[in-house]
Amino acid sequence: MSRIAYVNGAYVHHHHACVHIEDRGYQFSDGVYEVWAIRQGKMLDNAGHFQRLKRSLGELRIAAPMSDAALRVVLHEMMRKNRVRNGLVYLQITRGVAPRDHAFPNNTLPSIVVTAKCTNPGKADQTARNGVTVITVPDERWARCDIKSVSLLPNILAKQAAHEKGAFEAWMVDNNGLITEGSSSNAWIVSKEGVLTTRNLSSDILGGITRAHVLTLAAERQMKVEERSFSLEEAQNAREAFMTSATTLVTPITHIDAKAVGGGKPGPLASALRKDYLKSAAT
Ligand SMILES: Cc1ncc(COP(=O)(O)O)c(C=O)c1O
Repeated sequence: MSRIAYVNGAYVHHHHACVHIEDRGYQFSDGVYEVWAIRQGKMLDNAGHFQRLKRSLGELRIAAPMSDAALRVVLHEMMRKNRVRNGLVYLQITRGVAPRDHAFPNNTLPSIVVTAKCTNPGKADQTARNGVTVITVPDERWARCDIKSVSLLPNILAKQAAHEKGAFEAWMVDNNGLITEGSSSNAWIVSKEGVLTTRNLSSDILGGITRAHVLTLAAERQMKVEERSFSLEEAQNAREAFMTSATTLVTPITHIDAKAVGGGKPGPLASALRKDYLKSAAT
């Protein structure tokens, strides 16, 4: 079966899908994106992703190319056409095509691209059962990390550094020695005192939709939670560490910069939160 992409109103073969060379996403990274996880044919945390998309577009003053209802139809159609029961849907909206000039163009329609792909949930679940390793890198990003912008160079360099060291993810460290987040995930620890801890929302991090869902699950479990910054040292000495994102859901971390966390095994709370997440996302 050939893959299908959605580009500016048309469903086209993935292989032939293209945008104009003067699309501002291509020229300037002038756009935003969203990623939905699909499990058993269901888009997880749908409302949260729609809300964040609206916010990102608003912060950059890019017009929504269609109504939420129309967008929902496109996303579902993409899942259907690509037969995605388990996988990811990727959406990108840019300010559109215009002669190259830094300032916003007048009367330009935003561009929209959607792709969908299948992933192997069994493999992801196995990765989570094994746990993953992370390294740390300096956070070299801009001051508006709360916007889900397609401008991802520092994140790409961070992830590449992780892969070159055989690690799964890179956690970024700010100028004060505190962890901000992963290159494509939010960072969490269970502190020595047993408190579930993740950095507070600000323009230093992306407000992860999975993060928000996990906070709700933690409240349901009546866990002690603190939204605050933590250092690399605190993370390495924590009881547990884990990451959250639409692509990894809740994934335990066993090593940070080669130092074992929680005995080098996936932590029980992280594993329980992953189970809770999958259960509640399926309802
Ligand atoms: C930098 C960054 N932080 C956090 C996240 C997690 O966000 P979400 O849970 O909405 O996927 C992502 C996801 O792509 C990300 O790129």
